Amino acid sequence: MIMCGIVGFTGNKKSAPILLEGLSKLEYRGYDSAGIAVLNDGTIKTQKTAGRIKSLMDNTNGGETINGSVGIGHTRWATHGAPTTENAHPHLSGNKKFAVVHNGIIENYSLLKENLINDGFEFLSETDTEVIPHLLEKYYDGDIKTTVIRVTNMLKGSYALGIICADYPHMIIAAKKFSPLIIGVSSDCNIIASDATAIVNTTKDIIYLEDGEIAFIQPDNIEIIDENQKKIQKEITTISWNVAAAEKDGFEHFMMKEIFEQPKSVANALNGRIKNKKVVFENFKLSKEELQRINMIKIVACGSAYHAGMVGKYILEDMTRIPCEVDLASEFRYRNPIVNDKTLTIVISQSGETADTLAALKKAKSSGSHILAIVNVVGSSIAKLSDDVIYTYAGPEIAVATTKGYSTQLAALYLFSAWCAQNLGTISANDLEYFLNSVKSLPQKIKETIDCCGNIKKISKICIDSSSLFFMGRNLDYAVALEASLKLKEISYIHSEAYAAGELKHGTISLIEKGKIVIALSCYSDLSEKMSGNIKEVVARGANIISCTNEKSPVISNQYITIPDIDSRLIASLEIIPFQLFAYYVAYYKGLDIDKPRNLAKSVTVE
Ligand code: F6R
Repeated sequence: MIMCGIVGFTGNKKSAPILLEGLSKLEYRGYDSAGIAVLNDGTIKTQKTAGRIKSLMDNTNGGETINGSVGIGHTRWATHGAPTTENAHPHLSGNKKFAVVHNGIIENYSLLKENLINDGFEFLSETDTEVIPHLLEKYYDGDIKTTVIRVTNMLKGSYALGIICADYPHMIIAAKKFSPLIIGVSSDCNIIASDATAIVNTTKDIIYLEDGEIAFIQPDNIEIIDENQKKIQKEITTISWNVAAAEKDGFEHFMMKEIFEQPKSVANALNGRIKNKKVVFENFKLSKEELQRINMIKIVACGSAYHAGMVGKYILEDMTRIPCEVDLASEFRYRNPIVNDKTLTIVISQSGETADTLAALKKAKSSGSHILAIVNVVGSSIAKLSDDVIYTYAGPEIAVATTKGYSTQLAALYLFSAWCAQNLGTISANDLEYFLNSVKSLPQKIKETIDCCGNIKKISKICIDSSSLFFMGRNLDYAVALEASLKLKEISYIHSEAYAAGELKHGTISLIEKGKIVIALSCYSDLSEKMSGNIKEVVARGANIISCTNEKSPVISNQYITIPDIDSRLIASLEIIPFQLFAYYVAYYKGLDIDKPRNLAKSVTVE
């Protein structure tokens, strides 16, 4: 689980109403199921739903019908396993002595699960999390501290954990590694949560847990040990911000928060998928032999997902030498495409529910094509109907204009291209290693790109009064130009067009006149000379040039946006960042509703 929410409470009053209130404060993060577990008289009771927190509230009279002053709660955004009640947290051990809520991903869960099944443990969910309560039961020696230390030492990956144990009637246990977890400290109770939103109504005094730390929390005592199991004293920080600010992590808009989340989201998309210098997709049905029979790849999607597909086409064709076409799903579904059992259809969708993409998927499937979905929302309709799924693990995206959704789709496409190339033998071992190392560097490079976008505000101000502007580029620069133009259009309401730079002189150049803003994307160094030529053509007609380049591809320009250098196959991932920020700031300076642009919906489930 990536963006799930955790709450835990121990105090001298009923815990369930406080847990439910805390969970409702975490709803903004997006979730598909929720649950609480409360300990009372040595028995742990759970209440779960594959729906909204409101239904938990309705079933329990706001938590009042559940007795017990110690409990944990969770909002789940599905990653391992569909959004069902069985997969919702908390998860119980077989003997019902332990209940666990978890954010993060347990990377070695398959092996742990296999061993536990061999030991006779029965699993009720498809989640990675369920191994944890079973491990606690297996290794419990009567001492909760040694048991939790032992079990957390066995977990690989990331976790924020909330645990209760029937033998410890006043205690919640919190453990953190690579997923956020905090403790709210109060005079008559203590609370844990994945973010301060769930806590600030009760207390503003917070202890921030660090990686490797475990806290044993009772109403009147908090004992924290560090990664070396040494008891430590932690500082209490008093926070000053309010709930609305907390939801957006201090950002004014979800879009900006999500732009800044991209290094983390892309890291999640890559997590565990590059092993021993190779790409690994667990449980992939598409075999090497089937891949070798494929003679055409069709990528089908809408909007930004289609633009991610445009990037995918350049990379896939280059790395696999299989012809690849990108189609708008709304066009594909109503024409007579050539698709058969030698076609691999890749459908890309953040939501997994886009009506046109779903219809296109069904059409390709009925023609015998193998369907690979690149999807963010686990258990979505597109994921369910596909033969194979590469989940992008971007976490819930709240802003209507996609940013981290698109970036993680690119990451999935790079991995898939490399996976094909390694299986088809169309890439040398050296180049594969170089490519995958570059892919691994993306989270850090994206962060550097965000950091070096200092002049975007200034450039945005230059553009706010334009009624129309042009983007142009070649090859991957062109694919990014399409997405950059859409970002600007959808949130700033400024008309723009994206052109393949070589195509300009076949008509559109007639629109270039004195002062017209032309944004030249020129990061693809192999073609920077060609781009220089195109820039000169529009400059000669009075255009005002804003260029985006890296150090390898300089061009003349009135304003420069510079991005870090990277393997040229991966430039789209860096080059889009300044244009997400550009669209944001243009809309911001125009005073528009950035997270909810007019006429648009996040998930387009109708045709
Ligand atoms: C633009 C945007 C849309 C979506 C499109 C497809 O910022 O978000 O263009 O990319 O509606 O949506 P999904 O990816 O959910 O299929």
